[in-house]
Amino acid sequence: MISVYLPAKDWNRILERATYSAILTTMQEESHLKQIPLFTSLTAEHLADLATKLGTRNYKAGETIFHKDDPGSVLYVIKGGQVKIATASAEGDEVILAILTDGDFFGELSLLDESPRSASAIAMAPTQAMVLQRKDFVDFLTRYPEIVGDILAALSRRLRGTDSLVEDVIFLDLPARLAKRLLQLANTHGIKTQEGLEINLKLTQQDIADLVGATRVAVNKQLRLYQKMGVINLSRNRIIITRPEDLQRRVY
Ligand code: CMP
Repeated sequence: MISVYLPAKDWNRILERATYSAILTTMQEESHLKQIPLFTSLTAEHLADLATKLGTRNYKAGETIFHKDDPGSVLYVIKGGQVKIATASAEGDEVILAILTDGDFFGELSLLDESPRSASAIAMAPTQAMVLQRKDFVDFLTRYPEIVGDILAALSRRLRGTDSLVEDVIFLDLPARLAKRLLQLANTHGIKTQEGLEINLKLTQQDIADLVGATRVAVNKQLRLYQKMGVINLSRNRIIITRPEDLQRRVY
């Protein structure tokens, strides 16, 4: 063992610095939490309390966070990255129910109804998530009912999203489903560029196919047709909607 002799004043300085850096980290964590839609209604005191209960987990692109039917014991809040919520058939065909990004949460259903995970969660890009154990989540809902409203609003949005997904698969053809989904993604994750609205997500054509319930080949063909018509622009895995009004006309 190596022992290092340091005078007391140097130890004090080191400890002060460590305490200062721990306080700074906690403050940064709290100000980050404040920006997460689920927690915006919490006071600084509640956020400080929450920060002590949260853990952090990191996932590589392509890593499964949990599988459908796994038992669920934690809530996830995405700090940075991109996660798909998906289910798959026995043959391996996948349907993507939602794509979640920074500030979004998932995994609440199993905590609320104590049933297995309703879908799988897979990181689509390197992802860092904060995790809250079930007992802390339930405790939080009881102590801070202001976040219950936000959770109910998010659940309502998700149910509406699923209703519209079912409706689209039954009533719309592929060109319409694809146009609608691209416009929705541009609405939630679009950034304005000189060329048009760019969908700011990491998406492969297989992901798009899984979002609209079609094969990759059929989606590729339709995307190229839209590109030929000049309503979208595809380059290096980027999708830019150049004429949103014309794409909107294809939705019916
Ligand atoms: P849970 O069932 O615990 O695990 C899977 C999670 O995916 C679920 O909680 C929700 O957080 C999320 N989820 C399930 N279905 C949808 C959906 N249709 N839209 C968005 N998120 C969903």
